[in-house]
Amino acid sequence: MPTPPMLSFFGRFRARPAVETITPVRSFADVILPVATRQMLDGALAQVRNHALIFGRWGLGERHSTGLGLAFNFAGPPGTGKTICAEAIAGALGKKLLSVNYAEVESMWAGETPKNVAALFRNAAEQDAVLFFDEADAIAARRSVGVGLPMQRESNTTVNVLLRELEGFNGVVIFATNLAVNFDPAFERRIRTHVRFEMPGVDERERIWTVQIHPQYTPLAEDVDFRALAERFPASGGDIKNAVLKAAVAAAAEPGPDQAKRIHQRHFSGAMEEVVAAKSVMQQSLFSGDEPAQAAAVEPLAQALQRAESQWRTGTAVTFGLAAIALAAALVSLGVAVAR
Ligand SMILES: Nc1ncnc2c1ncn2[C@@H]1O[C@H](COP(=O)(O)OP(=O)(O)OP(=O)(O)O)[C@@H](O)[C@H]1O
Ligand SMILES: [Mg+2]
Repeated sequence: MPTPPMLSFFGRFRARPAVETITPVRSFADVILPVATRQMLDGALAQVRNHALIFGRWGLGERHSTGLGLAFNFAGPPGTGKTICAEAIAGALGKKLLSVNYAEVESMWAGETPKNVAALFRNAAEQDAVLFFDEADAIAARRSVGVGLPMQRESNTTVNVLLRELEGFNGVVIFATNLAVNFDPAFERRIRTHVRFEMPGVDERERIWTVQIHPQYTPLAEDVDFRALAERFPASGGDIKNAVLKAAVAAAAEPGPDQAKRIHQRHFSGAMEEVVAAKSVMQQSLFSGDEPAQAAAVEPLAQALQRAESQWRTGTAVTFGLAAIALAAALVSLGVAVAR
């Protein structure tokens, strides 16, 4: 089936397409993970391979036509390697990755999300691609966050379509969510394994600093000490990547001939300080306490509805009260009139 028009349209013009087919380039060699996370990923990969054996070569897929898909959830804070690992899994299976930024497609497809979600599954099946729902917090938690608004109906239909498609899809689906997501139980039942992506420890951070530079071509000054940076900044892999790029920009901007330019420790630490400062500004504006932005956004709406409802109740009670007093007064004056 050809790509649905909406998919191709946005894929062509957006800076970061909401839906894109990726031919994996990055592999597990590019990701430094805590041992427990790596073991869970290896377990997930083994399940996929055994699944192909049992349902493909052993023919059980022809006997059982539903519930064949393998759905995984990669849960963890931003920048801990969930996206690279989805790419690495697809690469290890020799498949492409159909990557869907769920938050973006939902706003883009307002009114048509369920139909397009079904099209995504067809598209993944045709390309024999691993289907990756990035930033899937909204889907995973949807029905438990619901406040019963009309717009909620489309979301629930979307989740129902998604659950139905998952049931009939004979392939691999990976969701990436924030750790704080409270899963919808129907959704939870279809997830085989939750792989937890933890923040890297000091040893992992040191290695992440090292893999973020080019081993031959990046000119490092003598004073560069990744261990010291790893110890000083408890950052995610994504933060380290951003700091490395900022440090390179700062070093390149210094005066002098290009051949003499080096990235020094002060460039790396200055860049990381900037990354940390920028993140804390973002967090202040996006989060209230530890709650995700989505919950924070839904909360005022729910509160506003409750407030409106209680105002309505109070207003109605006052109106009835006044009407009752007026009725009583009328009856009293009628009684007085009759008595005279
Ligand atoms: N464990 C890691 N090892 C090496 N590099 C990493 C690791 N984690 C993150 N990075 C670097 O940070 C970048 C961003 O990581 P990635 O997009 O995979 O994070 P993510 O968990 O998907 O984040 P988000 O939740 O924001 O989507 C990667 O391209 C990589 O350069
Ligand atoms: Mg990601």
